[in-house]
Amino acid sequence: MLSGLLVLGAMGACGGENEAGSNGGNADDGKITMGFAQVGAESGWRTANTKSIQEAAAAAGIDLKFSDAQQKQENQIKAIRSYIAQKVDVIAFSPVVESGWDTVLKEAKDAKIPVILTDRAVDSKDTSLYKTFIGSDFVLEGKKAGEWLVKEYQGKTDTVNIVELQGTTGSAPANDRKAGFGDVIKADPKFKVIASQTGDFTRAKGKEVMEAFLKANPKIDVLYAHNDDMGLGAIEAIEAAGKKPGVDIKIITVDAVKDGMTALAAGKINFIVECSPLLGPQLMDLAKKVVKGETVEQRVLTEETTFTPEQAKAALPDRKY
Ligand code: AHR
Repeated sequence: MLSGLLVLGAMGACGGENEAGSNGGNADDGKITMGFAQVGAESGWRTANTKSIQEAAAAAGIDLKFSDAQQKQENQIKAIRSYIAQKVDVIAFSPVVESGWDTVLKEAKDAKIPVILTDRAVDSKDTSLYKTFIGSDFVLEGKKAGEWLVKEYQGKTDTVNIVELQGTTGSAPANDRKAGFGDVIKADPKFKVIASQTGDFTRAKGKEVMEAFLKANPKIDVLYAHNDDMGLGAIEAIEAAGKKPGVDIKIITVDAVKDGMTALAAGKINFIVECSPLLGPQLMDLAKKVVKGETVEQRVLTEETTFTPEQAKAALPDRKY
């Protein structure tokens, strides 16, 4: 166990080829060992993502060393360094923020351990520092949120006051969901983002920030939350302020986890843009390929949809997360 973060999984030998033609000094027992540095457990989405990765590793016969960075970049860097020291075959991680990864990624490259970015991107200019990036198009998710809003207020001329709950500051989904949404709504000056603040992707922070938004702004028409959890926290604040979520304040969120979908089906959220956490099976396939030295696509995109309340009602009985 590393101090400051949770590290789960056996600390045993690992094997298999790493980069084409070299095995990085690992004992070759034929089993792939993956070191996975997770962001944390900040949301329902993250819990489902962790489950998907752990189950897929077990199904693929991959020995998984798993760490939870508790939303701190320094913990993720420590975990990655520990995986390098343990000479794992492949490292995968979901970077808590976009910047500041070049040094540790270079250390992995020098140790000939391939890296797979999962869910979130890094802003490194040197794309040879990782083999591939699997995850959603967060800009597109923000655009879908904006497009729903434009349609919802089509033909209306009054100002639409929007408050925005951003994800973790500096994270790819927060940056991109903000940018995509902003790009779409800027075409019509009636849309005004009157407040925008981070809620760190958590329910508790979403509630706290929404309480402050409600105190400072007498007229809020729309809440755009970068994930379901912050939206659900905000709903508590809106109800406590005597307003009806989904009616007095229209709500758009991203993720489509079960709790979010339940609130959507109940009319407390108006629209959800899906972001799939079920990345495990594809991640394990990619890991097997990069360990063998096979070439993989530099970008593997996740397929996603959107949900209205009616669609949520229909989808809920089979929703896995
Ligand atoms: O990176 C994906 C985002 O991280 C999800 O939308 C959010 O719920 C999570 O915390």
